[in-house]
Amino acid sequence: MHGRAIASAEGIKLKVNYPEWAQYIKTLFSLAPLKPIHLVLDLSAGTGSLSSILTSWGYELFCFDFSLGMLNIAKRKFEKQNLPGTFVRGDFRKIPFKETSFDAVISTFDSLNNVLDPNELLDIFVQVKKILKSGGPFIFDLNTEWSLKIEWNDFTRVEETANTITIWKSRYLNSISYLFFTLFVKIDEEKAIYKKNINSVQGTWL
Ligand SMILES: C[S@@+](CC[C@H](N)C(=O)[O-])C[C@H]1O[C@@H](n2cnc3c(N)ncnc32)[C@H](O)[C@@H]1O
Repeated sequence: MHGRAIASAEGIKLKVNYPEWAQYIKTLFSLAPLKPIHLVLDLSAGTGSLSSILTSWGYELFCFDFSLGMLNIAKRKFEKQNLPGTFVRGDFRKIPFKETSFDAVISTFDSLNNVLDPNELLDIFVQVKKILKSGGPFIFDLNTEWSLKIEWNDFTRVEETANTITIWKSRYLNSISYLFFTLFVKIDEEKAIYKKNINSVQGTWL
């Protein structure tokens, strides 16, 4: 069940325009004081969609993630394209690399939103600064309270891939942001019968 959910995560994220994201990150690299940027740590690499594009453009990527399932998919993605890459499982709350190891660190797709304690988040920034060479950038994105209130309140999105249908709904009520997430996986191709695979509600207190 867990494996299937991870595999489906690939499908769910198909609509993300990773080449555009990668281009944006490349542009931000070019603005950093450190030149050239070559060795990059993806602190929450997930299934390696972004890292693999950056690698194909000549950067050297360390793919780091808490989820072994995600990293295994990332590894296969790199192997399929004959791309070199290093894959390390770990928690970004305890970054296991030596000081000044990397030219740049990235963490995309709201990954740092998993850290709810401001002190823990601050500690991650301190650790990232240590492992970066002087002038190397840390590029990350976060969902803020403003976007949860304005952008994501009363938001519904339905996405369909060959084998999945996902429904995302988000609401902002009394300072709590809820994500209602339902995943249907196709179990009969001919009759187009789907089985409800995941049904979850997640609340973030602000
Ligand atoms: C929304 S996904 C984003 C993946 C990737 N950055 C992308 O843009 O496709 C969030 C990722 O953060 C990882 N993650 C969550 N908490 C983590 C932690 N404490 N340490 C390392 N990775 C973590 C998850 O396993 C997941 O792969």
